[in-house]
Amino acid sequence: MELPLKHPIFKTLATIVAEQNTEAYVIGGYVRDLLLGRPSQDIDIVVHGSGIGLAEAAARRLGNLPVSVFKNFGTAMFRYKSMEIEFVGARKESYRANSRKPIVEEGTIDDDQKRRDFTINALAISLNKHDYGTLIDPFGGLQHLEQRIIKTPLEPGITFSDDPLRMMRAIRFASQLNFTIERNTLRGISEQARRLPIVSQERIMDEFNKIMLSPEPSRGIRLLEETGLLELFFPELVALKGVETVNGVSHKDNFHHTLSVLDTLSLHSRDLWLRWAALLHDIGKPVTKKYVKGQGWTFYGHNHVGERMVAKIFNRLKLPQNEKMKYVQKLVNLHMRPIVLAEEAVTDSAVRRLLFDAGNDIDDLMTLAEADITSKNEEKVKRFLANFKIVRRKLKEVEEKDSIRNFQPPVSGEEIIATFHLPPCKAIGDIKNAIKEAILDGIIGNNPEEARAYMFKVAKEMGIHTP
Ligand code: CTP
Repeated sequence: MELPLKHPIFKTLATIVAEQNTEAYVIGGYVRDLLLGRPSQDIDIVVHGSGIGLAEAAARRLGNLPVSVFKNFGTAMFRYKSMEIEFVGARKESYRANSRKPIVEEGTIDDDQKRRDFTINALAISLNKHDYGTLIDPFGGLQHLEQRIIKTPLEPGITFSDDPLRMMRAIRFASQLNFTIERNTLRGISEQARRLPIVSQERIMDEFNKIMLSPEPSRGIRLLEETGLLELFFPELVALKGVETVNGVSHKDNFHHTLSVLDTLSLHSRDLWLRWAALLHDIGKPVTKKYVKGQGWTFYGHNHVGERMVAKIFNRLKLPQNEKMKYVQKLVNLHMRPIVLAEEAVTDSAVRRLLFDAGNDIDDLMTLAEADITSKNEEKVKRFLANFKIVRRKLKEVEEKDSIRNFQPPVSGEEIIATFHLPPCKAIGDIKNAIKEAILDGIIGNNPEEARAYMFKVAKEMGIHTP
């Protein structure tokens, strides 16, 4: 089968390959994505001999482009027309009789394809004169692309022991592309799962975040759980699993609930951190779970406990410890507020308080809260969604009237000090707080005039007078 190689780099490479009398191939993700009709940002080239030599010659020919050379790995890379092009020499592994440790040495394209992770990633296209554009497919990768199958080219045990991260990659590709992992390959993952911890946390999380960003993240996360990988790096998620029954009363399975919230939310948002908030919104439930006679199952304070757990989990998983984490913490803490509001009367002041606490994250919080409604009771769901409409409308009204979203105190501490000639003292904070509360309760509008008048009233009640 011949494939059209449209990017202009390929002709240049083919000319140099012919001049150098060597062999080179496009390989891996670029070929897979070309066949799937997906866009790609990088091209991997495998060369018989030195990848660095070909990279340098090509970069010179294309106008002295700067080349990054990684001597230790025998690879080189340059950018050309918004593409990252990476070159590597073909490798093979061989075993000496006296050692079980493989020696990596120069090899051919066949050797190199055998060392790849999956049949769909082992596909190569020739850049050589005699068969330019021909697909080289020794393991049935093309058929597996058509059948939507992830399969290792060799026995899974061999491929996964080469790099245990590949177990995460198999699941990531299955989730990202909506493929199925072939039975033997899946069994291989379960058998080798315990070897995952030798891989760095950063590489594990790169794959996990790709799963989180896939169209239906629950697919990947379920596979991680089923194969035993999840409990190795994310036991808190596994702890959500299961249903307990006391006196005939059961609670829901919070693992399935969480995944269903995550999938629903993913239909509305591609934001990684909002998806993380969905994943962790009930993470505090297992530790706060309690059966209370007469009430059934309770999870008091699971949002606060959850908020604290987010920091621990982000730290351990080596996720960013910055405003992204704070955003996830805030949403986990506030996730029930819109639902509680919708269950009770949707008053202006309750809406104003919600807006005050959520600030600019209010829309994300509403998206999360709406996805959190997974009840099977249709009447209940209808009622919630209708109330959510009211909450959204009121949020808009309140925002237009009072701009609470980025609340700035309309009277500053300095102004209070200057007006009443006060030394720094607690009363200043109390007056400021009373003004804020009055605005949130709708007693006064959010503007300096009404706030100032209220300031005098409160001060008077506190026995403070203008000098
Ligand atoms: N590869 C491998 N084993 C790994 C990682 C990568 O065999 N653990 C090979 C595969 O042939 C893969 C190629 O290296 O196609 C390039 O890897 P990478 O750029 O990480 O992934 P892509 O397959 O290009 O996919 P994506 O861009 O979605 O990460």
